[in-house]
Amino acid sequence: MPNRVRTAVFPVAGLGTRFLPATKAMPKEMLTVVDRPLIQYAVDEAREAGIEHFVFVTGRNKGVIEDHFDKQFELELTLERRGKSAELEELQRELPQAGQASFTRQQEPLGLGHAVWCARELVGHQPFALLLPDMVFKARPGVLKQMMQAYEATGGNVIGVEEVAEADVSSYGIVGRGEGPDAGFRITSMVEKPKPAEAPSNLFISGRYILQPEIFGLLGQQTRGAGGEIQLTDAMQTLIRTQAFTGVKYEGRVFDCGSKIGFLTANVVFALERPDLAGHLRRELRALDLDL
Ligand code: G1P
Repeated sequence: MPNRVRTAVFPVAGLGTRFLPATKAMPKEMLTVVDRPLIQYAVDEAREAGIEHFVFVTGRNKGVIEDHFDKQFELELTLERRGKSAELEELQRELPQAGQASFTRQQEPLGLGHAVWCARELVGHQPFALLLPDMVFKARPGVLKQMMQAYEATGGNVIGVEEVAEADVSSYGIVGRGEGPDAGFRITSMVEKPKPAEAPSNLFISGRYILQPEIFGLLGQQTRGAGGEIQLTDAMQTLIRTQAFTGVKYEGRVFDCGSKIGFLTANVVFALERPDLAGHLRRELRALDLDL
């Protein structure tokens, strides 16, 4: 049995420039899909996969994220006094237990690889999960849980992937596919934001990883890649020479909520899944008589 994955890292230091002015004073990870912030979806997915330690790599102006995962005595008291026990229970259930959340800061925006490297002391020498909170999934079980099943069989490093249109390969990391089924195939290569002609497949890295701690040493070399940033994909492409990487083409689909279209689509899809909203929303949409 490979070492159990207990810790998850959430890089939340990004500036959110694609959502200005919404993200001028508010972290983009607090944007909501229906009524839950993006970061909450990622934390819920991690918890479902058995994660017990939640490490947030934050930056300036991100204090609200820390508050979101803390007790709110005034709010809890008010809910209790008003008899809103369902809301109160939900808030309490979703809170990490005391000591389960850790925060560190990425002091400069040097790229995703650098953000992950900033978590090295908090993670220590053990495998860890990495979840990019922009990416929200409709998947059951959750994508990280599906990946954990592959990890239990293979150990090593595991990456969640999904098919992407050729026009979009240059927006993501792309993997080369070797032998094995969708639930766990050998990854042969990884390249960050390739031109369509240079992409090894149409399978893109959709923001969920299980990584071995040796990645930190490679990230610490601070080599700059695509866009002048320290790229996680480049470090993984080096690590693959000595460690196995398994791809999981999971059941489900991603909404890239770092893009406006992905974010808007996620809001509609998730609202239409909610028993308390779906019927009413459907009626409202029909009444608009949209010429779609
Ligand atoms: C990062 C990764 C990329 C991955 C993407 C998923 O890119 O570097 O490999 O496909 O996240 O969202 P970024 O979105 O930070 O440019």
